[in-house]
Amino acid sequence: MSVRILALVGSLRAGSHNRQLAEAAAKHAPEGVEVVLHEGLGLIPFYNEDIDVEGSTPEAATALRTAAAQADALLLFSPEYNGTIPAVLKNAIDWLSRPYGAGALSGKPVAVVGTAFGQYGGVWAQDETRKAAGIAGAAVVEEAKLSIPGSMTRFAETHPADDSEVAEALTKVVEQLSQATPAAA
Ligand SMILES: Cc1cc2nc3c(=O)[nH]c(=O)nc-3n(C[C@H](O)[C@H](O)[C@H](O)COP(=O)(O)O)c2cc1C
Repeated sequence: MSVRILALVGSLRAGSHNRQLAEAAAKHAPEGVEVVLHEGLGLIPFYNEDIDVEGSTPEAATALRTAAAQADALLLFSPEYNGTIPAVLKNAIDWLSRPYGAGALSGKPVAVVGTAFGQYGGVWAQDETRKAAGIAGAAVVEEAKLSIPGSMTRFAETHPADDSEVAEALTKVVEQLSQATPAAA
């Protein structure tokens, strides 16, 4: 079995704890599962049907669509911005939702995790991300979830990959997600 999971991170900052969570998921992925972090979400223009034209779609959007199409599943990492999903991640979902009915998310297993500073770990944003991904056509794996509170304090000194509780929880999420893929059958 070889399962490829594409990780999208909804924070662009260099020191992002959600990015670090994605790194931890890659490091602690179970045998036979590869988690690959997609770069370049910040280069994708806001979704606009006028520029989503076959043959002249923005390069960064095409790269995202290709990477998603080549993956067996997607793992989305979302912090919470003002109680909801950060624009960068929503924009990626919007691009992946088109062409309507045939976007790269269509039928693709998707799980959502994340960390935020608040006491609920960004659960509103992660719920909204599941909702948007589902409407975009993804097969959302609802039970594969993880919301880690207190991002800025919990990970101030410790990378999530070195936090055994977090590492174990991520391994479980990746396992659940990979089991939802046809590649695992
Ligand atoms: C614009 C903005 C809005 C935020 N809103 C929330 C929020 O609604 N709930 C929350 O728990 N944290 C909120 N935070 C704090 C983030 O959860 C925290 O900074 C988190 O670590 C950001 O993710 P990152 O480390 O991956 O960049 C907000 C941060 C920013 C920059």
